[in-house]
Amino acid sequence: MTDTITHGPAADVTGLTTEEKASLTSGASFWRTKGVERAGIPSVMLTDGPHGLRKQREGGDHLGIGDSVPATCFPPAVALGSSWDVELVERVGAALGVESSIEDVAVILGPGINIKRSPLCGRNFEYLSEDPIVSGVLGAALVRGIQSKGVGASLKHFAANNQEDDRMRSSSDVDPRPLREIYLRAFQRVVEDAQPHTVMCSYNRINGVFASENRWLLTDVLRDEWGFEGLVVSDWGAVSDRVAALRAGLDLEMPGNGGQTDAKVVAAVSDGSLDEALLDASAQRVASLATRWAATPRVEGPLDVEAHHTLAREAAARSIVLLKNEPVDGEPLLPLTTGRSIAVIGAFAEKPRYQGAGSSMINPTRVDDALTAIRAAAGEAAYAPGFTLAAEPDPAETARLRDEAVAAASAADVAVVFAGLPARLESEGYDRDDIDLPADQLAVIDAVSAANPRTVVVLSNGGVVTVPFTRRVPAIVEGWLLGQAGGSATADVLFGVVNPSGKLTETIPLRLEDTPAFLNFPGEEGHVRYGEGLFVGYRWYDARRMEVEYPFGHGLSYTTFGYDAARVSVTDGGDLEVRVTVTNTGDRAGRDVVQVYTSLPGSRVQRAPRELKGFASVELEPGASREVVVVVRRKDLQYWDLRAERWLVEGGDYVVEVGASSRDLRSSVTVAVEGDALRLPLTRESSLGEVLAHPVAGPLVQGALAGMSQMLEGASSIMPEGVSMERMMASFPIGRIGMMAGGQVTPEMIDGLLAAANAPQQ
Ligand code: BGC
Repeated sequence: MTDTITHGPAADVTGLTTEEKASLTSGASFWRTKGVERAGIPSVMLTDGPHGLRKQREGGDHLGIGDSVPATCFPPAVALGSSWDVELVERVGAALGVESSIEDVAVILGPGINIKRSPLCGRNFEYLSEDPIVSGVLGAALVRGIQSKGVGASLKHFAANNQEDDRMRSSSDVDPRPLREIYLRAFQRVVEDAQPHTVMCSYNRINGVFASENRWLLTDVLRDEWGFEGLVVSDWGAVSDRVAALRAGLDLEMPGNGGQTDAKVVAAVSDGSLDEALLDASAQRVASLATRWAATPRVEGPLDVEAHHTLAREAAARSIVLLKNEPVDGEPLLPLTTGRSIAVIGAFAEKPRYQGAGSSMINPTRVDDALTAIRAAAGEAAYAPGFTLAAEPDPAETARLRDEAVAAASAADVAVVFAGLPARLESEGYDRDDIDLPADQLAVIDAVSAANPRTVVVLSNGGVVTVPFTRRVPAIVEGWLLGQAGGSATADVLFGVVNPSGKLTETIPLRLEDTPAFLNFPGEEGHVRYGEGLFVGYRWYDARRMEVEYPFGHGLSYTTFGYDAARVSVTDGGDLEVRVTVTNTGDRAGRDVVQVYTSLPGSRVQRAPRELKGFASVELEPGASREVVVVVRRKDLQYWDLRAERWLVEGGDYVVEVGASSRDLRSSVTVAVEGDALRLPLTRESSLGEVLAHPVAGPLVQGALAGMSQMLEGASSIMPEGVSMERMMASFPIGRIGMMAGGQVTPEMIDGLLAAANAPQQ
């Protein structure tokens, strides 16, 4: 295995014909780029992604769908994200890189880091979080891991692709602040921290313009602002106008279409409507990617299937979130102790749901089921399927299966119910209609938990589901979709071989109607309005002080952790260094994820009550303590300033909260942060309030107001007692103040004031 990657020189495209350059910028087939043999530019393969390699066997169908080579199915992003484990995620990335390299794949199409705007999005299982810091930090770790093997990552789907419904046409209409602060922030972080070799543009429009034709997105923001050095590839079939796309900064159209659109590019160059320099730049990027791959040492096969399965099992166990674990007869129900008889109930125990449908579907090297793993751990266990996965189950069959499950549960010391979403209820390509488990499964959970107080529910779902049984069962394990080793990993957690440490990267709400995008999803007539603005996920529930079932960041352990008071200091570079000592106060080794949130009370702009700004994990033996340091980058304190159209740190007293979840905050510290300088010119439109706050104009106007005592006295008769004239007039544009001042303020005076205020400072 090679860890050091050396790149050969990139081929130069300047000597190529326009036809050759155009040919480089679209695919040769479903998965390959075109080469130019005489220039030494090879054809390379890009393929899915993201949580395993989906590489079609040679000679497979032309749609690129069937018959992929076996590969390790690691936990999909919904699960892996819940680990909050940067080091582990990077190792999984490296393993993806190894599998890609062995199969001669230059680029694996992932990670997907779109924000989970609504739990209804059918593809949420492929995404990491409702929060941009979690998505950005873990997305960067995946990219670093993949690219450590010389294979390129493809950061997708850029951008604001947060639903499947009408995904190839719909316009995501997002205001600048949420666009920057929520939807682009994770992409920005991954690009700046990890430089993915490629970024994949999404299908949808953003504020009316297709991502593939969006020059602002693909060039101004991605390249000029963030410094992206790689290649922009289209999502498969995302290009509607190839020439417009090239002009906007889309380098490679995929999949290939037999050269049909290359001819349009050539024609546009010859009639002058496309600047050849743009084509040169895009062709060069494709050529560089291909020649670099050709010069990259490959990881030699065969794949160590066993080692990667073991990693998949480790990652799956880390991804499991223990939602609830209450004592029954004075003892926590989990971990299960051997010696107690177990009834395993639910079809997912035998036939696991471990990944989602669509382009990310991996042909796994093997699959572990939980039933076999539980029997191996416990010696024996009874089993009843409990329900069928049929779309319209037969009522008599449903009743029979339920009765059988109740009988098995009654006869055992402990019942473990494996419930979840049938595959048809979530997939790439369409969204969900609701966020509930099927009614027959809910009925089985109720019946079993009524029959046996020691009932554990284990969930398998890619999108969040409601858990209405939460008060009726003592233990709930959220297993998401855990990849091919999910069954054995689940048994590891149930029996305490692994102490769970996953935490929610998305809120579990009480009901769909509570969710932030409820009234604006999936939009209509080709537009989806992101009406909740900045208030995505926990930002929404916290701002509205709503109850949730389980909050963002929540996840239990078989041990407990104590936090001492946090300390915060500001580094020379302006970052916040947050320190807190964590102690394992229980009786077994465990890992906790320390989360740091900030807020700025009294901010001049709208903000969520708290925003995650950093996290770190700590592993502790029983009784041990360790100081955990979380660095909050100054950059992450910025908001997008609409007046200046740039990022800005607002100065003030920031509240830094440290905790084990967004609603289990253990300490709070206030720290003064110096703001970025921003001097906006005053205009006739500036309000009296803004003028009064201005360092030069403010005192001048204060003085002038004092001289207008007569007018002010008159006005005071219509003002509430105790309210100043300045307050009542605060929003009055300064240019129109003359009208109200009875001739005492002339246009010349206003011009003089503005000139003084806007004069360059000495
Ligand atoms: C998906 C991408 C995927 C591509 C290639 C598209 O439909 O949106 O995520 O990488 O197909 O399979």
